[in-house]
Amino acid sequence: MTMRVYVSRDAGAVAVGADEVALVLGLAASKHGLDIEIVRTGSRGLYWLEPMVEVAMPQGRIAFGPVTEFNANSVLDAMISGGPHPLRLGVAGEIPWLKRQTRLTFARCGVIDPRALADYRAHGGYKGLERALALGSDGILADVTASGLRGRGGAGFPTGIKWKTVAQASADRKFIVCNADEGDSGTFADRMIMEGDPFVVIEGMTIAGIAVGASKGYIYIRSEYPHAVEAMNAAIAAAKRGGTLGARIGGSNHSFDLEVRVGAGAYVCGEETSLLESLEGRRGIVRAKPPLPAHKGLFGKPTVINNVLSFAAIPFILAGGAKVYADYGMGRSRGTMPIQLAGNIRHGGLFETAFGITLGELVDDVGGGTFTGRPVRAVQVGGPLGAYFPRELFDTPFDYEAFAARDGLIGHGGIVVFDDSVDMAKQARFAMEFCAVESCGKCTPCRIGSTRGVGTIDKIRRGERVAENLAVVEDLCNTMKFGSLCALGGFTPYPVMSALKHFREDFGPAPTRLEAAE
Ligand SMILES: Cc1cc2nc3c(=O)[nH]c(=O)nc-3n(C[C@H](O)[C@H](O)[C@H](O)COP(=O)(O)O)c2cc1C
Ligand code: SF4
Repeated sequence: MTMRVYVSRDAGAVAVGADEVALVLGLAASKHGLDIEIVRTGSRGLYWLEPMVEVAMPQGRIAFGPVTEFNANSVLDAMISGGPHPLRLGVAGEIPWLKRQTRLTFARCGVIDPRALADYRAHGGYKGLERALALGSDGILADVTASGLRGRGGAGFPTGIKWKTVAQASADRKFIVCNADEGDSGTFADRMIMEGDPFVVIEGMTIAGIAVGASKGYIYIRSEYPHAVEAMNAAIAAAKRGGTLGARIGGSNHSFDLEVRVGAGAYVCGEETSLLESLEGRRGIVRAKPPLPAHKGLFGKPTVINNVLSFAAIPFILAGGAKVYADYGMGRSRGTMPIQLAGNIRHGGLFETAFGITLGELVDDVGGGTFTGRPVRAVQVGGPLGAYFPRELFDTPFDYEAFAARDGLIGHGGIVVFDDSVDMAKQARFAMEFCAVESCGKCTPCRIGSTRGVGTIDKIRRGERVAENLAVVEDLCNTMKFGSLCALGGFTPYPVMSALKHFREDFGPAPTRLEAAE
């Protein structure tokens, strides 16, 4: 009987040697005449254990990790004999870090072959589309609204309302756009799902097309994600061959076609109107709103623009899961969030769980503290525009409103951990510098304010008129917050002000906090 071995082809796993491990396993198999099929999957998201290799056994898939090209042969021996091995992790689904999660969106990621439509179907794929075709527009909109799903790109806008607005707009053409620009620091969930389960994104976008009456969609992927581009293109081709994309989807009267577009590498191109400019072939400069993209979006037509994870949540919801989805979470944050643990953290990776888990549980318990073993000092949540949280705020539950109440944001769910060697004045300077570099230049508070912010923080760090310059930084932050056209300039004050508020001791001349402690 063929022995089936699974090795991730996720870019994060490939970066630490998954291709070499697959090669060694394949060579050993042919050398010894073993009947082995190597299936390249996505990652399960336990990045500190990658390359994680699994073998199908009667009791489930047995995982080993982290495997290297040097120990792959001994792992293969242990797979064949069933004997002990220091890298043996047991049944993959029973690994506590994985078992603790509620995987609704990422249920198949790391499990199926992302190139195989049949594998997707065998694991529940396209059940949502089948039901969506039977329900029609009104039924789909009712389900999406009932699920309580809010956009996972950062702003947390209710997806049902957005789709309804586009559905109600009358136009000769409408579009569905998937925002896969994923520029936030510490985030990789969009990439992971595109590489590990691309059909779920396609299915979600197809359902959106049926809901609002759009027959064309675009996936805008950042150029830094070549593996995701390849995976999405392969899946689109497979879906077309399988009749779930293109003309007369699943034998219905609905048509829906998809194309991948690759961005040129600007953080601001993740902002929806800037992204639309870029898709239309122009420089990514933010458009003033209104009109909203839902009324006048791509090529001036009503457009649904959603994050990858928003679309990827849809198939579960439409497959009869709206209520189940809504039952998870807290307050107005319903369902699950694929949280990404990154930075100086022991157990970094993808952790999908219901809203409501606290920041402390995520960092200390799930993440296991810092990789360096030093105390955690600060955690930036929500990307480069997110606030820095000190340990005193670790009781904050992962919830849009709870984070906003503490002058923070959950954004796209990225958590970047810093130990006690971090210089928070430097981080505040970095926030301003990032804004200056990435600013589209359309409005003055952001374009000028960020550059002035860098210079002023430099003066503070040199010890020049510290009190006066701190007042200037606060003033600049207020101007940027209330006067900027989009959230790049408008939210840069969050990391700066949180650093000032919670880590004031870092702002001033030497001796710095660390030198003083030595
Ligand atoms: C500077 C900036 C960068 C952004 N980058 C992204 C991004 O990379 N991906 C994303 O989905 N949304 C990003 N957004 C949010 C989008 O403008 C928009 O809210 C989102 O695509 C809507 O989808 P959702 O409702 O599914 O979240 C960004 C916003 C700003 C202001
Ligand atoms: S805030 Fe910055 S990025 Fe946004 S429109 Fe103004 S200049 Fe452009």
